[in-house]
Amino acid sequence: DRGESSASVEAVKIQISSLDGRLSSLQSRLDTQRKAFLFASGTRIGNTFYVTNKQEGNYFEGKTMCNKAGGQLPSPKNAAENEALAVLSARYKKQFFLGINDLQSEAFFLYPDGTTIGYANWEAREPNNDKGVEDCVEMYNTGKWNDKSCQEIRLIVCEF
Ligand code: IPD
Ligand code: CA
Repeated sequence: DRGESSASVEAVKIQISSLDGRLSSLQSRLDTQRKAFLFASGTRIGNTFYVTNKQEGNYFEGKTMCNKAGGQLPSPKNAAENEALAVLSARYKKQFFLGINDLQSEAFFLYPDGTTIGYANWEAREPNNDKGVEDCVEMYNTGKWNDKSCQEIRLIVCEF
């Protein structure tokens, strides 16, 4: 009946306003965490964050470390993402590995999830698979990419 349904409408209204409150406090908490993260020298584009723990390792060590932290090696998928990531190569003046590689099939560069890359920013004359051993991809300080041996030791940068 009428009385009962208006009572349940009231109950829902109260629930919504309590959810509203929780949502705004989550939002402000998130804004604070984002600021703290960026202060600790990460970079951001949209909801994607790039950060280094300043440790170094080869591609496989970097991949394991990023995955354990709940992230992955960076895979910039357009020029804007690549530029945001390049901020770190310029800041630390060190190259680092991307997640992109052609370990599975020479010259077919894939994202870590196995899909074909849809964006690339190769340095001139790259990828050249120098000495036949370059299946991973490093980012130079300029933001340009070079294929490089996965065994090289590089700064570890992850994407979250
Ligand atoms: C090499 C060159 C080359 C690039 C290779 C690098 P190296 O450095 O920079 O252009 O394609 O990936 O290993 O071995 O001459 O110091
Ligand atoms: Ca190369």
